[in-house]
Amino acid sequence: MAGKIPAIFFSYTSNSTIQTMPLATSGEYLAKTFQGLEEILATELQQLGATNIKIRKRAVLFDADLETFYKVNYLSRTALRFLKPILHFRASSYDELYDKLSEIDWSKHLHYDQTFAISSVVNSRVFDHSRYTTMKTKDAIVDQFRARFRKRPFIETYQPDIRFHIHINDRNVRLYFDASGESLHKRGYRKDDTFPAPLSECLAAGMLLQARWDGSKDFVDPMCGSGTLLIEAGMIARNIAAQRYRSYFSFHHWKDFQPKLWKKVKEDAIKNERVFEHVIKGFDYNQKALDAAATNLRGAGLRGYTELKLQDINDMKAQTKPGFLMVNPPYGDNIKVADIDLLYKQLGDMLKQKFNQWDAWVFTANLDALKNIGLKTSKRIPLFNGPKESRLCLYEMY
Ligand SMILES: C[S@@+](CC[C@H](N)C(=O)[O-])C[C@H]1O[C@@H](n2cnc3c(N)ncnc32)[C@H](O)[C@@H]1O
Repeated sequence: MAGKIPAIFFSYTSNSTIQTMPLATSGEYLAKTFQGLEEILATELQQLGATNIKIRKRAVLFDADLETFYKVNYLSRTALRFLKPILHFRASSYDELYDKLSEIDWSKHLHYDQTFAISSVVNSRVFDHSRYTTMKTKDAIVDQFRARFRKRPFIETYQPDIRFHIHINDRNVRLYFDASGESLHKRGYRKDDTFPAPLSECLAAGMLLQARWDGSKDFVDPMCGSGTLLIEAGMIARNIAAQRYRSYFSFHHWKDFQPKLWKKVKEDAIKNERVFEHVIKGFDYNQKALDAAATNLRGAGLRGYTELKLQDINDMKAQTKPGFLMVNPPYGDNIKVADIDLLYKQLGDMLKQKFNQWDAWVFTANLDALKNIGLKTSKRIPLFNGPKESRLCLYEMY
């Protein structure tokens, strides 16, 4: 993307003036995701109609018309947020940053009655404090409003109307609209977030898509915690849009937002939902975990498709027909386990003895404990759970 400024936004010219270009109905966007899920995200975007797709580390660039942009926001399961580029320029000091940001006509993108927020990622010797960068950006916006209107928009960190994102690499400054406003892992179905160590919804969905889960069999998570894998598996099986239960998106507050087109995208997605003829089963030995899972499954409209049972993995019954299993066992950090090596050995024994003919996927960041499963892996997919290097391993049980 370097050096390329989409014609629909702003262009920065050599005499240092920044001109606003007319709005158009298509453009270049950036989607962020977890390290290791870039290709899955690129496939999702392509299937939803995006073009000119380029894979970067933890991000995918793509072009889309407005309808496709709305579709990817509503339907993508693995994107953490979508960014729309505003402009790109070079700056060598905080004052120059402020001056160049002040050349933007901010009233074209924000009304003084709206709230806003700014996030920043800074990797630069010149701009060595990301908070100061954020403050300078905020000052440029607020000072311009005060001077022009004697009124100013206020900062709101929780679900602001407009969120800007500033990315500085050395002296290269890129300014974006953050279309999502807050991370898209917040799907809106998690009504109980009291249980510790839930898996990110985007990561859970990405793992299921990597594993080609399609809803054609029964699904089991023998250590389901608050139910993230159960819910994401159920949503994929029923083809329920990832953001079906989320109402907040920052781009709904953009000046060019088209509510009718958004409504159409949502209605089309709901028409494409399908029935699921199998069962999703979750087990855990902790009643609090099961209570949270039940509440969250209800929030996702999936309680009728699921069975939950209080049970230790050592008490699992033998399965009578083949199916699909995915599990995210404790790593031994957030959730304390007396003997983590023994737990992974018991998990391996359970798979061997009770899950004949099943595809079993185990996701963990404890690569030492994983060795105790004692089964041959058919696939080992490297992923990151936040900063933690992890593996998604397939065990084909015969
Ligand atoms: C990392 S959490 C799973 C999180 C889950 N994927 C989610 O998104 O909420 C691991 C779960 O394993 C459960 N667990 C640990 N040992 C178990 C055992 N022996 N039998 C059944 N469940 C167990 C814990 O209670 C915990 O809920």
